[in-house]
Amino acid sequence: MIDTPHGSRTIKRTHWKAWQMKRIAVLTSGGDAPGMNAAIRAVVRTGLEAGMDVSGVRDGYAGLLEGDIGYLSRRDVGGILQKGGTFLGSARCEAFRTVEGREKALANLERHGIEALVVIGGNGSQAGARDLWQMGFPVVGVASTIDNDLAGSEVTIGVDTAINVALEAIDRLRVTAASHRRAFMVETMGRECGYVALMAGMAGGAEVVVIPEREIPPEVVAQRLREAYDRGKSHALVVVAEGARNNAAELLSYFAAHQPSTGFALRATILGHVQRGGAPTASDRLLATRLGEGAVSALLRGEQGVLVGLRDDRVVMTPYDEVVGVKKEIDLDLFELARIMAL
Ligand code: F6P
Repeated sequence: MIDTPHGSRTIKRTHWKAWQMKRIAVLTSGGDAPGMNAAIRAVVRTGLEAGMDVSGVRDGYAGLLEGDIGYLSRRDVGGILQKGGTFLGSARCEAFRTVEGREKALANLERHGIEALVVIGGNGSQAGARDLWQMGFPVVGVASTIDNDLAGSEVTIGVDTAINVALEAIDRLRVTAASHRRAFMVETMGRECGYVALMAGMAGGAEVVVIPEREIPPEVVAQRLREAYDRGKSHALVVVAEGARNNAAELLSYFAAHQPSTGFALRATILGHVQRGGAPTASDRLLATRLGEGAVSALLRGEQGVLVGLRDDRVVMTPYDEVVGVKKEIDLDLFELARIMAL
């Protein structure tokens, strides 16, 4: 048994390696998120500062299976802070979901003398990291996804940029909507989580926000648009998350079938991957830098099997069993606030 900030716990024998750790690797996995580069840079520079060798893995778990691993220097991560995407590459890797795949990855890590791995990514990526940790390999995760649906961190790397990209689109659409007395429907990313839609919708003054956590039937959306028109609005905006049952495609087909007299003509814009590609905002760069440093510090303290995230503006570690498979709830008071603001 050892003492950790989370109390006493049994650490597998191999996990003791962390105390004399000399060589770590970092990878980015799953959907890319603006700020991932800043997180890699922070892992590399803080790791080197602590006297470690730091390697990068290309293309996430796929590169781990291929053994595509190489040393990174301070200069290798120069000039990437302000760039979106991930210079290491990322992938969604089916083979890593199998035990055979993970064993191959472990063999490659051993062959390269890697003693611990930092995984920068979202839910699926952290589930893979947890599986590797359960097989006895020291792993620390860094919370990064534009969906902001990762338990263990109030905010994840990339979501601020994604919201700002969506907001810029909403603001532009509002201008043309007002000129033509139109309603615009903007669909944001968010497979299972409406966070980006809710925040961008509220910041953009949307008349209606539709998210998976609070479905709004098409007839209610139509009614809200009609009411907005009756209140004298010259335009209306509906912001909908892609993961909502009543997403843009569903709402459009309802409106086409029912031709409701909302007072507005309705157009849809699906933002898609545009939200993932932007240069990271200052907020995402700073968050990524803090979480990247947090991951190296955690390894130096001997902590593993944890996700590094932010709570109450503090970098915190949350054990994987409190993160993987745990649903992060959205603050529905904000959903109600968005509705009131639209009146
Ligand atoms: O998880 C992040 C995310 O951008 C989701 O919002 C979106 O549904 C998904 O990834 C898209 O994945 P892909 O880039 O593999 O199509």
